[in-house]
Amino acid sequence: MFAQLRNPFILGILVLPQLMLSQKMDYTQEEKQFRPHFHFSPKNNWINDPNGMFYWEGTYHLYFQYHPFSNIWGPMHWGHATSEDLIHWKEQPIALFPDKLGTIFSGSAVVDHQNTSGFGSIENPPIVAIYTNHDHDGEDRGNRTYETQSIAYSLDKGYSWMKYDGNPVIANPGIKDFRDPKVFWDNKNQKWVMALAVKDVVYFYGSSNLKQWEKLSTFGKDMGNHSGVWECPELMELPIAGSPNKKWVLLVSINPGGPNGGSATQYFIGDWDGSTFTVDPNFAQQISQKQDFWLDFGKDNYASVSFDNLEHPDGKRVIIGWMSNWEYAREVPTQQWKNQMTIAREIDLVPFGKTFRLRVKPEPSIYKNTKLKKKWNQTTFDTKTVLIAENGTNLSNILLKSTLTPKENERYTFQLESPEGDLLTFGYDSTSRSFFLDRTGLQINSFSDDFAAQIQKATRTALTSNIPIEVIIDKTSVELFFDDGETALTALYFAKAPFNKLSLSSTTDKINLDDLTIFEIATPNEQK
Ligand code: FRU
Repeated sequence: MFAQLRNPFILGILVLPQLMLSQKMDYTQEEKQFRPHFHFSPKNNWINDPNGMFYWEGTYHLYFQYHPFSNIWGPMHWGHATSEDLIHWKEQPIALFPDKLGTIFSGSAVVDHQNTSGFGSIENPPIVAIYTNHDHDGEDRGNRTYETQSIAYSLDKGYSWMKYDGNPVIANPGIKDFRDPKVFWDNKNQKWVMALAVKDVVYFYGSSNLKQWEKLSTFGKDMGNHSGVWECPELMELPIAGSPNKKWVLLVSINPGGPNGGSATQYFIGDWDGSTFTVDPNFAQQISQKQDFWLDFGKDNYASVSFDNLEHPDGKRVIIGWMSNWEYAREVPTQQWKNQMTIAREIDLVPFGKTFRLRVKPEPSIYKNTKLKKKWNQTTFDTKTVLIAENGTNLSNILLKSTLTPKENERYTFQLESPEGDLLTFGYDSTSRSFFLDRTGLQINSFSDDFAAQIQKATRTALTSNIPIEVIIDKTSVELFFDDGETALTALYFAKAPFNKLSLSSTTDKINLDDLTIFEIATPNEQK
């Protein structure tokens, strides 16, 4: 993935035409057609992973992998955006620029309340960013040690940053993929803990001051999916719904190897003793039986990490992911900007046999931005029912909530349709006990062979007779949360015209639905 940067000539060929193009083109039509209403996308150019997210005095800070001069991945910076409600984002000046140690790859940020780093004071705690320096010149020279970990600090709440003059704080031990530090304060053990992706395992490090780090342990050999490189790990403690107990969870993004192709995020559940993460035996057994544990089964949710310093009333963590896939992120059909983030989600655990599963739901702020569009009081629907087909209707900013009681041997399909013949369908197939999301019927999907190559699927894991369904649609994305978030599927879509028709069908029998409601999601912020 990082190969195109190695040769400055190739870099020039890649970047210069983009620059010239971006100055000439009029992107008004593209803005209208594709600019997300309420998902973060940069005004210009390329983004990937969310980085360094933290919450401080009413403001959410989102940094991100950013190439300010091109809509194609290149020398990475940390872009920056802020929000007061996780819906309306304001882009800020670039936070971190490449330096002599390399470009700025993914990482995290923490609020150092006790001023353990000494960069600030207790009254004005420093925000400390921990990131990977990627030295492309070193990589070109054939070094193996081109990824190191560095830190920077901010004394003005995350708007401007100073690099630490003792960087790097973790040297490379001779391993090519050595990146994406995610740090948290381990309160029980009174130290900082870092999860770092190292080829296809995770190294844990500990520190008292964010400057000196000691390696604690290695996790992951022979555990989980290894068909790609491991990236962007995060260790966190999560509450178990309906119980006072908590478990430790390790998120690990992997590229490729996702359940529906390309990049995705797997997770592990177990215990953390202050130096070692041990997977629960029952969880390990499920993994060995090929039970899939993915944060999201859709193709477009990668590198999710959580906000530091965000106290959730129930102890949940709030995460955001990159809403794209390395299979085609460079080819998606926008020119002025490329790629966007998922909505913020909150995560916790639910019991699953003798172990647990991770559950992911929209962070509730989004509900404050909705207004009722249509509600059905009936509970039985015909096998082919048009739910909305009004002239002038625009279904590109909606929240749909419902509960389906599935019958045997049925396929339930929600279908969105545009006047240009774009079709996007999703639903549940009770014969195969699986959810599906199909973008093969869109008019714009030939920009990559991998984009609509297959119907995305996820096997249902919940055993209840009802399936709660929540769907969030923006101009170029659909986020599906089934069974209260026990199964999530997130995907981009690109349509020739906005959807204006929604229908529901089953293969044979009438459809039993409770609480079918559609809300409009308010879109005051066009992020221009
Ligand atoms: C994940 C990733 C990270 C890396 C960054 C580079 O998408 O490959 O491992 O730090 O992107 O932009």
